[in-house]
Amino acid sequence: MERIRTQVGIVGGGPAGLMLGHLLGLRGIHSFILEDRSQEHVIERVRAGVLEQSTVDLMHEVGLGERLDREGLRHEGIYVAFGGERHRIPLAELTGGRAITIYGQNEVVKDLIEARAASGEPLRFEVDDVSIRDFDGLPKIHFRHGGQPHEVTCDFIAGCDGSRGICLPSIPASQVQIYERVYPFAWLGILVDAAPSSDELVYSLHERGFALFSMRSPQVTRLYLQVSPEEDIEQWPDERIWSELELRLHTRDGWTPHRGPVTQKGITRMRSVVVEPMDHGRLFLAGDAAHIVPPTGAKGLNLAMADVWRLAGALDKFYDSGSETELRAYSERGLRRTWRAQRFSAWMTSALHRDNSSGDSSAFDQRRQRAELEYLVSSRAAMTSLAENYVGVAFD
Ligand code: FAD
Ligand code: PHB
Repeated sequence: MERIRTQVGIVGGGPAGLMLGHLLGLRGIHSFILEDRSQEHVIERVRAGVLEQSTVDLMHEVGLGERLDREGLRHEGIYVAFGGERHRIPLAELTGGRAITIYGQNEVVKDLIEARAASGEPLRFEVDDVSIRDFDGLPKIHFRHGGQPHEVTCDFIAGCDGSRGICLPSIPASQVQIYERVYPFAWLGILVDAAPSSDELVYSLHERGFALFSMRSPQVTRLYLQVSPEEDIEQWPDERIWSELELRLHTRDGWTPHRGPVTQKGITRMRSVVVEPMDHGRLFLAGDAAHIVPPTGAKGLNLAMADVWRLAGALDKFYDSGSETELRAYSERGLRRTWRAQRFSAWMTSALHRDNSSGDSSAFDQRRQRAELEYLVSSRAAMTSLAENYVGVAFD
């Protein structure tokens, strides 16, 4: 058995775990990151694309802003489309200059992995049989790597292992409350080699359901369609996806997405999860391990970044002064931000998706939804509320 001693053991090498390791390294705190997938898989996984202003600011603060500045696409507005018209919401104008930036999650992960390699701090991919124990004393992480057993002893464990991880299930069920809502929708997403036909994102509600136009670069378009959670991707050949996207997205001014070769496609079910509290003894959950938001508000990656920013600050305080006050406040402060993001994401989801599961009430809901969107695009107050939440408030 190989025995390793570190200060913070980090389970999960996604954006949360990698950014936490980077933040700790900048403060001279040692960490050990372990990830059960391969480096290629973690980098190539197509996920989030929208960075809030605070996430962009964080990337700059930690010395990772250079490629983001060069390749990221700053957007000062988004469109909301319904009834065949696109309506622009001027995010920056309504929020004193705050904006979002399109920069794929995989690019963030690539930058963080490079920085980790340069720091010389350990990051192990393709580990197996990960388990954690002793959260109340000196915590330990057990895992196998290349068939060999390993034990990491640490002062703290950061559970950054996403929604299918082992950290949350390791907490006794009586010690946590899990709040969950499953939505009767899923998103079918495609990545396309085609120049985006709009400079800004388009969130569209059509009578056949939601569709979203997004992008990754000046050459790559990202598109999503609301489908049923039971939908089988095999039933969606490219031609069917394109005709449905064009039906739902095209507007009366002739706008429609550009077609091109589809390079990736997949279906993601939508749900909201909040774990309370976000800590147990010396185990701290961060990112999707602690909360999941439906993607409509583009908040998941940004919430993960806010968590690890707060956790790194609290750990720094502990190593600096021995004070646990900030560590003990980690969960409560995080839950306030999480519930704000849940409220916003649930609102965006219900405003923009067609719920065919509700029988008689759906005709009522369709008209209510139309009134909601008409109000949104006609009231500066309503647009400001959306803008403030969408660009995100400063990390707290
Ligand atoms: P993850 O990215 O899930 O990382 C967890 C890591 O832990 C993974 O690498 C996993 O392999 C690893 N792991 C799991 N179990 C173990 C184990 N036992 N041992 C070791 N490692 C383990 N968010 C936004 O902010 N904006 C968006 O536009 C957006 N769009 C999205 C679109 C889609 C289709 C999806 C699916 C998500 C989207 N999200 C978006 C959400 C965002 O991708 C997640 O919130 C984000 O990945 C959370 O980061 P994380 O590091 O907490 O978790
Ligand atoms: C994306 O580009 O992947 C994306 C954009 C906005 C969202 C969700 C996903 O709300």
